[in-house]
Amino acid sequence: MKVAVLKENAPGERRVALAPEGVPKLMAAGAEVLVESGAGEEAWFPDSAYAQAGAAIVSGTELYAAADVILTVTRPGPEDVRRLRAGQAIFGMLSTLTNPELARDLAAQGVTAVSLDGLPRTLSRAQPMDALSSQANIAGYKAVLVAANAYGRFFPMLMTAAGTARPAKLLVLGAGVAGLQAIGTARRLGAVVSGYDVRPAAAGEVESMGATFIELTSVGSAAGEGGYARALTEEERAAQQAELAGHIARHDVVITTAQVPGRRPPLLVTEDALKAMNPGSVIVDMGSSALGGNVAGSVPGETVVTGAGVTIIGADNLPATVPTASSAAYSRNISAVLLSMTKDGTLAIDLDDEIQAGVVITHDGKVVQPATAKLLEKVSDGGH
Ligand code: NAI
Repeated sequence: MKVAVLKENAPGERRVALAPEGVPKLMAAGAEVLVESGAGEEAWFPDSAYAQAGAAIVSGTELYAAADVILTVTRPGPEDVRRLRAGQAIFGMLSTLTNPELARDLAAQGVTAVSLDGLPRTLSRAQPMDALSSQANIAGYKAVLVAANAYGRFFPMLMTAAGTARPAKLLVLGAGVAGLQAIGTARRLGAVVSGYDVRPAAAGEVESMGATFIELTSVGSAAGEGGYARALTEEERAAQQAELAGHIARHDVVITTAQVPGRRPPLLVTEDALKAMNPGSVIVDMGSSALGGNVAGSVPGETVVTGAGVTIIGADNLPATVPTASSAAYSRNISAVLLSMTKDGTLAIDLDDEIQAGVVITHDGKVVQPATAKLLEKVSDGGH
């Protein structure tokens, strides 16, 4: 089995799917490893490190021609999809729940697609494969550094001959994997930290990180399936936004991480809430996306300063800005998935396996993952 590592081509993407340390592990399982020249460069893994680890360095054309399995970080663009051929497999974070058409196209090409974001994350044997968590963890850490960098004051309390600086008051909205790491990082920098989530289970986790949990009186639990939040109703959303506004205004820095699987990120910080914040406040919107984010007016990949002096940073791909750590973690995740599906040196698809039932999106010309297949039915029904 030839396993090939692509050079990512999405704008701003600096990660690589496999680090050099992953090469011998795949070789030990009977794989030959091919790496596209320059694939790891932006993550500070030179071709020479891969070659030393036992990989062959090849051109993109050679890679597509020879590979049995292609490893990527993000989903392939339309041109990349056209280069794939029947019988090949592609492993990556394909996000087919927000882009089901990609699954349809890959199935039509006869490509087996495996997406790490479909992993049943609560299974204990899936932990080493959990790329959503490894990347969210890094993003939560970096969000705090980005906020500190944009903030015009200190995070810690500092007593100097020139006076005492009070610590920054920082609020984290959404206390999942990214939010909890943001809380821990902000605490280490000396900020006074509060956290909020719609899942009541988050309260204990926020407090165990040394932050204060904010409880809203107007919205009850919105715990959904599998440890995720459910989408709020219209009334709940309005009540949440109004009550949160008061808390947001009391804070200097706000980091938002709220996500509901398969939906656009919920709006938590409204125009009115922004108006009530002090000039110099900073918001990092980790939910920022083309569909809209957690913060009114945030633009993915851009920094916007409102008329009232609030800096809103649309942080859409923070893991790519910590490329060595995020690639190293992702490399272990994707290798664990691939190795769990490898028998006698070849790919062994078994849709009865609980993990494979989640991650295998297309196989044998069909979309086999139920959640993605259901979405495609809806699309072909015209949304009915
Ligand atoms: P996520 O990225 O889907 O969402 C981030 C956070 O936003 C979540 O905590 C969610 O509750 C919150 N959120 C959604 N809508 C909100 C709203 N309207 N207002 C405020 N907050 C809102 O979640 P993530 O980080 O992927 O984790 C979700 C859950 O899964 C957590 O409970 C986490 O601990 C759990 N998990 C468990 C694992 C395991 O059992 N091994 C592995 C990974 C995650």
